[in-house]
Amino acid sequence: MQALLVGKIKPRVAIVGCGTVGTAIGKLLRDVDYRISGVATSNLETARRAAGVTGSERFSSFPWEVTRGADVVFITTPDDLIESTCMSISEHRGFDKNVVVIHCSGALSSDILSSARDCGAEVANLHPLQSFASVDQAVSLLPGSFCTIEGDSSALPIVRQMVEDIGGILLEITAEKKMLYHAAAVAASNYLVTLIHLALELNEAAGLATDTSFNALLPLIRGTLSNIGEKGIPAALTGPIARGDVATVSAHLKAIEKDAPELLQLYRCLGLYTVGLARAKKTIGREAADKLASLLGR
Ligand SMILES: NC(=O)c1ccc[n+]([C@@H]2O[C@H](COP(=O)([O-])OP(=O)(O)OC[C@H]3O[C@@H](n4cnc5c(N)ncnc54)[C@H](OP(=O)(O)O)[C@@H]3O)[C@@H](O)[C@H]2O)c1
Repeated sequence: MQALLVGKIKPRVAIVGCGTVGTAIGKLLRDVDYRISGVATSNLETARRAAGVTGSERFSSFPWEVTRGADVVFITTPDDLIESTCMSISEHRGFDKNVVVIHCSGALSSDILSSARDCGAEVANLHPLQSFASVDQAVSLLPGSFCTIEGDSSALPIVRQMVEDIGGILLEITAEKKMLYHAAAVAASNYLVTLIHLALELNEAAGLATDTSFNALLPLIRGTLSNIGEKGIPAALTGPIARGDVATVSAHLKAIEKDAPELLQLYRCLGLYTVGLARAKKTIGREAADKLASLLGR
């Protein structure tokens, strides 16, 4: 593998699982002169189409038929099939010695590819920190997206090279901390949805229709994101907790308890966390922080 890098010979890449990410990575690598030696997916017609998009030499519905002879194998099936697909390729002796086997899951680490390691392969994870709804979208968004990698030290040089070649931005992590990294992505993406839903529910309890309410909140949400980008956290924090305005927070709790009691616990929990940010911003003293914490934690 090192020879491939040093000699600048592009590795032969096989893709197993020809959905959004597998097909897009195949196309992007092909566009920068990697050889896509084979693609495999459970549906032969899909494999045929993916071979057309990626310029692959071979296609099959049996992964081991296309993985043999490859220098790099991407397993881009749905997450819950990565480990079993890897095992099945291993059982069919589908991995050459020293091949680099990569999966793209955000939640799982490269350790789930241990059956390939047992065959003499090197394993890694390459997770594009982005959400893709289609192959075309992935092809246009992957360049410029952060791509988080971890894995065997001998596998990482070629993984770094591929990320660089497709225009991704490298972020490196350890297998051990992968789950925390994924929890962070869930917090930033999924819980943002939850947070905005909380705001919409409170507005609904206030008599505002969801469409109007969302349109009204959107400039506030965008402004806050832009402040976070410009000033960072905790500097971007504003509002009653940042001001130490105990009376307003107390009035919020009473109003929510009366008209939307099912949201009270979440509001309290977020408020308590925010008191810590206000202390870090140094806009409230210990006395105000204690009052707010006791009010919100009650
Ligand atoms: N989409 C995203 O936004 C995104 C972002 C970052 C990372 N990822 C990761 O990328 C990986 C792939 O996700 P995706 O979004 O590309 O999924 P996807 O579009 O659902 O594609 C997965 C493909 O795997 C194929 N497949 C299913 N079972 C298989 C099997 N037993 N053997 C071989 N192929 C099989 C399916 O093809 P057929 O059934 O048609 O044969 C399907 O098209 C996942 O690990 C995911 O976590 C996705």
